[in-house]
Amino acid sequence: MKSFASDNYASVHPRILKAIEKANKGHAKAYGYDPFSEELQDIIEDIFGKGVSAFPVFNGSGANVIALKSLCKSYEAILCSDVSHINVDECGAEEQLVGSKLIDLPSQQGKLSPQSLSSFTKNYGNEHQVQAKVLSLTQTTERGTVYSLQELKALGTFAKKNSIKVTMDGARFSNAVAALKAKPIEISKAAQVQVLSLGGTKNGLMLGELVVVFNPQIADEMKFYRKQYLQLSSKMRFISAQFVEYFKNDLWLKNALHSNEMAQRLKSELQKFSELEITEEVAANVVFVKVPRSLIEPLQKKFPFYVWDENLNECRWMCSFDTSSSDIKSFAREISKHLKKR
Ligand SMILES: Cc1ncc(COP(=O)(O)O)c(C=O)c1O
Repeated sequence: MKSFASDNYASVHPRILKAIEKANKGHAKAYGYDPFSEELQDIIEDIFGKGVSAFPVFNGSGANVIALKSLCKSYEAILCSDVSHINVDECGAEEQLVGSKLIDLPSQQGKLSPQSLSSFTKNYGNEHQVQAKVLSLTQTTERGTVYSLQELKALGTFAKKNSIKVTMDGARFSNAVAALKAKPIEISKAAQVQVLSLGGTKNGLMLGELVVVFNPQIADEMKFYRKQYLQLSSKMRFISAQFVEYFKNDLWLKNALHSNEMAQRLKSELQKFSELEITEEVAANVVFVKVPRSLIEPLQKKFPFYVWDENLNECRWMCSFDTSSSDIKSFAREISKHLKKR
């Protein structure tokens, strides 16, 4: 079965499976003191610069929680977009575990802008109100759009000016790197990111995300948060070995370029059907599309996907590193067949 539901539905890349097998030799030190975790640390410094640290964790929600926990004082609030994963899809984990108020702001194409943040800086110093001092940006956004370097720079400059600390939910960071054709560090630097959650699971790993910390002071504390928030793997070598392979010969970028390219092909196929309406710019690996109601269920039987907005009949069709051109063709044929039946 192939689906367009989510890159979480995708398989594990064969090279990653092999890397896990290769790591499965004898014993190794636990809790991140193994050779793969050490090698990963060097790789991260090559990509992001000296002194930058990587903390492998199990999942993206956990990565977001400890990233935010490391930046947020109890009286500080987290600015995020109304459609952000931390706001709508993490079961209130941030409110419960970080213990801070989330302030969800109206977004456009899933993005925030300095203008959307500016009213919150007016309350600084008033002890009756939370201090909105942390900003969470998602790159690639939940709407499949990608902040440009200029947009990130504007947000980063605004944040710095107002002493706002920035985290980036990069569950699909690799798709953004591929889309922007930028260096990873250009993206994090532009937005003045202090902690980045860099995804692996959605782009070919079996499981694992990296919490990348740019500020050494925060890095000193991160290991404690990771343990306290249950994200420290005892057999970490098996997560780290996946990431070592992921970065080798740019597997992460090749996978992301491929899933982005598949989304472009899907878009081209869909544009042939006047009954469908693409509702968002296709910048990475996802296409949002309004579909006639009668088509949804029959299509889902063969190609599972999520209806994103029931009122609008808007569906999210997501491509993965293992989506093939023939999957796209078969999906388009299925759409055509059901449209003709109407
Ligand atoms: C943008 C974004 N951030 C974070 C996550 C959380 O990842 P996980 O399901 O591994 O907790 C997801 C998962 O779909 C996501 O789409």
